[in-house]
Order: sequence, then C-alpha cells, then structure tokens
Amino acid sequence: MKILVSGANGMLARAVRERLSREHELFLTDVGEMNILDKAEIKKVCDIAKPHLILNCAAYTAVDKAEEDEAFARRLNAEGPANLANECKERGIPLVSISTDFVFFGDGSHPMKEDDPTAPKGVYAVTKREGELEIEKSGCEFLIVRTAWLYGKGGKNFPDTMIKLAKERELLTVVNDQVGSPTFTQDLAEALLNLISVGARGYYHFTNQGGISWYDFACGAIEEAYALGMIDKAHKVDVKPVTTKEFPRPAPRPAYSVLCLEKYTKATGKTPPEWREALKRYLKSL
Ligand SMILES: NC(=O)c1ccc[n+]([C@@H]2O[C@H](COP(=O)([O-])OP(=O)(O)OC[C@H]3O[C@@H](n4cnc5c(N)ncnc54)[C@H](OP(=O)(O)O)[C@@H]3O)[C@@H](O)[C@H]2O)c1
Repeated sequence: MKILVSGANGMLARAVRERLSREHELFLTDVGEMNILDKAEIKKVCDIAKPHLILNCAAYTAVDKAEEDEAFARRLNAEGPANLANECKERGIPLVSISTDFVFFGDGSHPMKEDDPTAPKGVYAVTKREGELEIEKSGCEFLIVRTAWLYGKGGKNFPDTMIKLAKERELLTVVNDQVGSPTFTQDLAEALLNLISVGARGYYHFTNQGGISWYDFACGAIEEAYALGMIDKAHKVDVKPVTTKEFPRPAPRPAYSVLCLEKYTKATGKTPPEWREALKRYLKSL
C-alpha cells in the first residue's frame, strides 16, 4: 500500500518510518513538502503521490506553550486534520490520525474506553478533540488512534530528561498524582501497522500496558539506566514524589488518563507490551 505520511520528521513518525517502510511504500512529507495548513499543497502532493491512505503524524504538541498560542495550536490540531480529511473524502481514501489521552479527564474509576465522554481541558487537549471532530465531520473513512505519554528516538522525551537530570543532580522531584501509560513510539508504530492491516476504522486506544505516575516512570527509567550502566553507580540520586499543586504548569493535566486497550486487542489479536519491558527495550536501543 502507498501511504502518505505528514509530519514525517516528528518523534512518532521516526518510528513509523522505520517500521511501516518494511511493509508499505511510504511517501514522507513534513511542513517543507506538505504543509497541512495548505489545502492546495495537500492536493498537489496527493496528485503526485497517489496514496492509498494518509497517515497524519503532524500536530502542535507543545502542551504548555499552546496556552499562549491558542490560535496556532487550533490551526495545526484542528484545521490541519480537517484539510487532510476533506482531501481523503474527495479521493475516497482513509485518513489515519493520532490523538491523545488528554481528551479525557478520567476520575480513576476505570480505564477510558473509546466511547467514554470526552472532557478536554487546556488548549492542547481542546484543539486535539476539535481535530477528532473535524475528521468525523468530513465524512471520510478514518482511523483515530489515541495514545499517551509518548517517548522514543528523535524527540525530547521524559525518560531521556530524567536520566540526564539524574546524572547531574542529587535530588529530583517528580509529580506523583497524575496517572497514565507511557508508550514507546516503536510499539505505537507496530500498533498502527496492525490496525491498518486489519482495516480498522473509527476510534482506537493504544498505549503500553500499565497505569503509573510520572514519579513511577522516572524511578523506572533511572533504575533501568543504573542497570544498563548509563548512570555511574557511584553517583547517588534521590527521587522525591510531589503533588501537581507543588509543581504547577501552565496547562492542566488529567489526574487519571489510562486508556482501555481491549478494542485494540480484539481487533488485532495482539496484546500491547507492558510499560516497563518497553522502557527497557528503548533504553537498550540507545
Ligand atoms: N508526544 C506525546 O507525548 C504524545 C502523547 C499523546 C499523543 N500524541 C500525539 O501523537 C502525534 C505525534 O506526536 P509527536 O510527539 O511525534 O509529535 P512531534 O514530534 O511534535 O512531531 C510533529 C511533526 O509535525 C510537524 N509539523 C508541524 N507543523 C506542521 C505543518 N503545518 N505541516 C506538516 N507538518 C507539520 C513538526 O515539524 P516541526 O518540528 O518543524 O514543527 C514535526 O515534525 C501527535 O498527533 C500528538 O498529538 C503525542
């Protein structure tokens, strides 16, 4: 299948390029080749590439910065997907787009299912939900995959930051009252491939398995880094849990946004890898 990828220089797209190119012909574009805000350019690129499917990895992903940059975040997260979806509708091809656990504000009673009510808070979350609705409105065939807490090669990410800080400092403070599921981009790329292979349509959730706090994630990354010799054993670092109130950020974060993975497993017959095993695999690959 010929797949046109937008936002192809991003962190997730790097894993998509590595994994999907083994099974499909990829036509890679980032803002320089196909700006998702430019309808005419999308059409032109589609005329050249003649894709069977568009995979949108482009987005405005700076969650805190978005609070001061609402208009542009909305353009990238809502108008861009709408442009791609309308082009897909016209061509009769499906759009695969990536969304976020932030569209929920779960109360911790159960992992969020695809049809649970959304309650986005903050500019990033609200504009990502608007993007989902724009895709629905276009009437194109679509697959929207919501994911969470992504990390992988080629992007600024949480485990890399924690390991860097652990090497430099003796004390780290990390938020312990936000629970979610860290997700390795390589595993999400595999999941996208699986969902595309079975022709999945509509909303799906995919993350690594396990609901943990940022504090747990930081401790896991640091422990694995010690085990792999990435941090000198002679250097000791303490990791202290703190509350969101003690560590305020411009954008609100959900206290609980674990996603239910049953629909994915049912559709593909695959079980998502567990978060700690995935983290180990990532750190070993560095
Ligand atoms: N990162 C996470 O923790 C996380 C969690 C849940 C969901 N997601 C979702 O997963 C997807 C991928 O995230 P990511 O972290 O891989 O994103 P990323 O690294 O920020 O990549 C986004 C890419 O889109 C490009 N882009 C920006 N504006 C564009 C435009 N107008 N036209 C075409 N391309 C444009 C960016 O280029 P520049 O760098 O030059 O701007 C960048 O290469 C996004 O939909 C995101 O919302 C991410």
